[in-house]
Amino acid sequence: MGVTADRAGAAGFVTAVLRPWTPADAGALRAAVAADPDLVRQTGGAELSTDAAAAEHIARHLAPRGPRSYAFAVVLDGRAVGNVGIGAVDDVHATAWMSYWLAAEARGRGLAAAALAGASGWAVRELGTFRLELGHRVNNPASCRVATRAGYPAEGVERAKLRYGDERFDVETHARLATDPAPAVVGLPVR
Ligand SMILES: CC(C)(COP(=O)(O)OP(=O)(O)OC[C@H]1O[C@@H](n2cnc3c(N)ncnc32)[C@H](O)[C@@H]1OP(=O)(O)O)[C@@H](O)C(=O)NCCC(=O)NCCS
Repeated sequence: MGVTADRAGAAGFVTAVLRPWTPADAGALRAAVAADPDLVRQTGGAELSTDAAAAEHIARHLAPRGPRSYAFAVVLDGRAVGNVGIGAVDDVHATAWMSYWLAAEARGRGLAAAALAGASGWAVRELGTFRLELGHRVNNPASCRVATRAGYPAEGVERAKLRYGDERFDVETHARLATDPAPAVVGLPVR
């Protein structure tokens, strides 16, 4: 079941969009991280156990717009349930680094690929980015599928790139060029 901008889903009419983070998303961010400890890493290891801490994280890391990084809340029926980050924006080479996560409650319906595709189109249009890059641990097949569906072919494996605790992980990198064919997935609109 794929999510596009608007569709009639099993649970009724569903609207998914990308928009900038706001302080009002603090409760949703805190709840998402509380429900999945893996998201602590995705949010930079920050302590987000209170709404105040989540609001501070949004103000410092998610809400600021550029010039080197941007973040979009993935909003499903009015609630922020994920993030797409555009980081390491490099105007010399017209490159950027993409990242994404979803709250556990929002997974399993293709939302991340639609969100990544929407943010990728925005980066090409609004920032003039030519090459968008991302990487996932090789033991994260869902992220690999998200990247591929959003139009990012795999390019290779970087050995032991990431260290989580005592363990190191190989990372597969993917990239999308502005001239690549459009992916089949419909990107979420940016509001
Ligand atoms: C990665 C993540 C964003 C994917 O969320 P999602 O959009 O709900 O993804 P889905 O559940 O729709 O799965 C995407 C695809 O992966 C497949 N998939 C999911 N789990 C899988 C598994 N364990 N093995 C193989 N394939 C799997 C799905 O079948 C789906 O395939 P399809 O595109 O062919 O239909 C989400 O799991 C997440 O936020 N994880 C934690 C943070 C994270 O890992 N971020 C990425 C860091 S690189």
